[in-house]
Amino acid sequence: MCGIVGYTGSEQAKDILIGGLKRLEYRGYDSAGVALEQAGGDGIDVFRRVGKVSGLESELAHLDHTSTCGIGHTRWATHGRPSVANAHPHSSCDGRISIVHNGIIENFAELREELEARGHHFASDTDTEVFAHLIEEAYESGNGKPGTHDLLAAVREACTHVIGAYGLAAICADEPGVIAVARKDSPIIIGKGETGSYVASDVIAVIDATRDVVVLEDGQFARLTPEGISYTDADGNAIEPAVTHIDWDIDMAEKGGYPDFMLKEIFEQPRVVRDTLVGRLSGAGELDIDELGLTYEELDLIDRVYVIACGTSFHAGLIAKNLIESWARIPCEVEAASEFRYRNPIITPTTLVVAVSQSGETADTLAAIRDARIKGAKVFGITNVVGSPVARESDGVIYTKANKEIAVASTKSFIGQVVSLTLLALLLAQVKGKLNTRQVKLLFRELGDTAEQIQWILDTQQEAIHEAALACKDAHSALFVGRGMGAAISNEGALKLKEISYLHAEAYAAGEMKHGPIALIDPGFPVIAVTTKSPVYDKVVSNLKECEARGAKIIVVATEGDEDIKQIADHVICIPEVRDAFTPITATVPLQLLAREVALMRGCDVDQPRNLAKSVTVE
Ligand code: F6R
Repeated sequence: MCGIVGYTGSEQAKDILIGGLKRLEYRGYDSAGVALEQAGGDGIDVFRRVGKVSGLESELAHLDHTSTCGIGHTRWATHGRPSVANAHPHSSCDGRISIVHNGIIENFAELREELEARGHHFASDTDTEVFAHLIEEAYESGNGKPGTHDLLAAVREACTHVIGAYGLAAICADEPGVIAVARKDSPIIIGKGETGSYVASDVIAVIDATRDVVVLEDGQFARLTPEGISYTDADGNAIEPAVTHIDWDIDMAEKGGYPDFMLKEIFEQPRVVRDTLVGRLSGAGELDIDELGLTYEELDLIDRVYVIACGTSFHAGLIAKNLIESWARIPCEVEAASEFRYRNPIITPTTLVVAVSQSGETADTLAAIRDARIKGAKVFGITNVVGSPVARESDGVIYTKANKEIAVASTKSFIGQVVSLTLLALLLAQVKGKLNTRQVKLLFRELGDTAEQIQWILDTQQEAIHEAALACKDAHSALFVGRGMGAAISNEGALKLKEISYLHAEAYAAGEMKHGPIALIDPGFPVIAVTTKSPVYDKVVSNLKECEARGAKIIVVATEGDEDIKQIADHVICIPEVRDAFTPITATVPLQLLAREVALMRGCDVDQPRNLAKSVTVE
């Protein structure tokens, strides 16, 4: 995830910026850069590198730069590939303004076109660069308005043109020692230390300098100087935001105040849904996959889809199968990449292979992609890592925008994968004429609503999940059941539980219980069921009655307001009512939280389970 750091004070800025960027490294990035003011307002020097912050540090170490004001950034590519040109800071045409930005500018294409028409020259493929030119126009005069000749006022003016999310820090050679800051939907922390003023996107970058910080709110702006910090609202009125005292240690700060990365990443899921959907649907209802790599004509010819993946990514594929078959009416098979690559699957030039991989480098998935390509299939990648082998070796790609996932157990990546696969299913259905524009728009809106629904679960269901976890913690085994989408989700619930709590768990299609697994059930045996309102609700309930009769401890993930289910369930975890197609996005969240609670109760390390690594790159 991109990181911002800025400093203005009496010390050498380059050392402070590099120190701050190193602190942000754990979030993941592909390039880094700093902008340093030259002495006497002569100009701004920008240094950018692809790769590690240590590379940038070595470059700056040889440089005698005494600047005491600057901004720095670690970039995780969204618009435009990782490259020096796309790395931040970005600059105005005359190089006298430099900016760093986190977030996504949704209307950047229109803004860029307008700015180019007014004579601005762009040096990158990023959305961010429009900000540098908008601020330049507002500062100097342009677009029919006189210049503000005030950096913060120019930043405020620029923000009125931007739709999207931003955490922004800007410097200007004409205002030495000043950093202007803006925030909307992307975190910004500001603090005053002994030697100067600091801005960062994450408290971890400033925690050595100060523990009293302002967490900027949306629509608030700040002006940092070596002497102090002033704040305004969007109209330029002075405000005094509250100061928060941070008593976290470094370890907690890296985890954003959460006790472990797994919980932090589960709580990031509403953002993942939003970010993965940003800019994907035009006003006219056309889905926009920027790195599609296949023409609509090629997509229209697709008559068979294989989703290939491993582990959690494979479970995302199970959900995609339901969506692709029901919306686009294309036969879809889901296969473990480790099986697919050693079989002789039926592949023709009209076969689409969808490779799903968080890391983008899992050995079996890569081998399966290569094999599929040799056999003539079109390959589409869904991955979280820009420029990863899966991305490079596929014809097209959707990036999941989950940002770096640190806990070994995949949570936010899974949600990003399911949202991306849902987009792909919608696209195939649209291209094949199975869904019209009105239907696509409606489904897209409901897909976006899942962000708030996940938030509701996170805000309200922790206690119920804790109680359910108590019922599982001493068990020797647990069974996850469901039908339809519920069966697909059950697989992920069982995998999460076993990998982090070392409690044996299996997933079964609920209708299959009576064909064998029911023999396992004795009094107190935990059965965890997805019983959300769906066309198969009654069927799942009747399967659960069979378990109840044998004394099972029944835990259900149910639709809020379902009073009937309480008659049969020992523990009810609620999710908001949602279209069955989108149930996986919401109903998986309680199962992730349940697995984590059980693991903690059993004394397990939820971030680093035994025997497992984040990616499996060798056989
Ligand atoms: C489970 C988990 C693994 C991965 C699997 C595939 O929580 O993280 O099952 O899903 O190893 O990894 P990627 O998606 O990187 O190919």
